[in-house]
Amino acid sequence: SRNIRLAVIPGDGIGTEVVAEGLKVLEAVGAKFDTTHYDLGAARYHRTGETLPDPVMEELRGYDAILLGAIGDPSVPPGVLERDVLLKLRFAFDHYVNLRPVKLLPGVETPLADVSPEDIDIVVVREGTESLYAGTGGVMRRGTPHEIATQESLNTAHGVERVVRYAFDKAASRPRKKLTLVHKTNVLTFAGDLWQRTVTRVGEEYPDVTTDYCHIDAASMFFVSQPQRFDVVVTDNLFGDIITDLGAAIAGGIGLAASGNINPERTAPSMFEPVHGSAPDIAGQGKADPTATILSVAMLLDHLGMKDEAAKVEQAVSDDIIERLAGWASRTTHEIGDDITARVSG
Ligand code: IPM
Ligand code: MN
Repeated sequence: SRNIRLAVIPGDGIGTEVVAEGLKVLEAVGAKFDTTHYDLGAARYHRTGETLPDPVMEELRGYDAILLGAIGDPSVPPGVLERDVLLKLRFAFDHYVNLRPVKLLPGVETPLADVSPEDIDIVVVREGTESLYAGTGGVMRRGTPHEIATQESLNTAHGVERVVRYAFDKAASRPRKKLTLVHKTNVLTFAGDLWQRTVTRVGEEYPDVTTDYCHIDAASMFFVSQPQRFDVVVTDNLFGDIITDLGAAIAGGIGLAASGNINPERTAPSMFEPVHGSAPDIAGQGKADPTATILSVAMLLDHLGMKDEAAKVEQAVSDDIIERLAGWASRTTHEIGDDITARVSG
């Protein structure tokens, strides 16, 4: 069979450092890949004024998958690269499922007292193409005391239903078969009502799945106080953004949190990236933990049907993490990458 075609977007800051380690692991696990690098991000923007030109976009569409490091840099006005590169890719390639596991691996330190790995095993299905990320907005009388800024949340029946269906399928495939809708239906009455009705209606097709509802504020509290409550969580784009940073914190930190921007129908490539950002404060110092990217590579392999390879990478990460307990606390980005690479090769 032909090699898998992978587009690599290392991006900004620590993105380039962690992606290099992810690719090392990918190569070592024996998957047959052809990789092409794309220099999108701050450097290209400063050099050419371009963010993500249309011809590049069309080229990217032809790949089997995309691996992304991180996008965003303080030298570029906030939102420019995020909107014109990262969100553009998620929207254009219909990444309506932003899959973010929140799983406490054995040996990982959590700030929560008295929890063990069985207590934190959540999959957040974050909607990826709508909500406040996609709504219109505007400003009047900018800079005056009478400024008015609006930012609308866009929710469509089609957009909500497709991600809710995915979440039900995911819940049905897991032992606990529980799906929690997280929203804010007591205040966001229009959007919340659409989400709630959709979950109720689609849920009738999944009699084996228990459904539950939690407001985002309460869910944030329960992530910390009772993470056992959650199995699969489905939520909108913004709530999902926030709750998955909290999820990362309870499951060992942002250095371990992986994600997949999935197009389930495969009409465009799915894109895998660590949940963390470009961390300009520690960029170039070899301090970044590449584990989140390596776990994102495992998700990529799984998405492409390479289940054995995916499991091998996950196992290598678990084993490596156990060793961290034994006092390897201060390895560099390269060293962690090398150690995990050695485990998948062996
Ligand atoms: C994430 C990030 C992005 C988001 C930013 C960089 C636009 O925080 O992937 O979680 O808000 O989705
Ligand atoms: Mn985020």
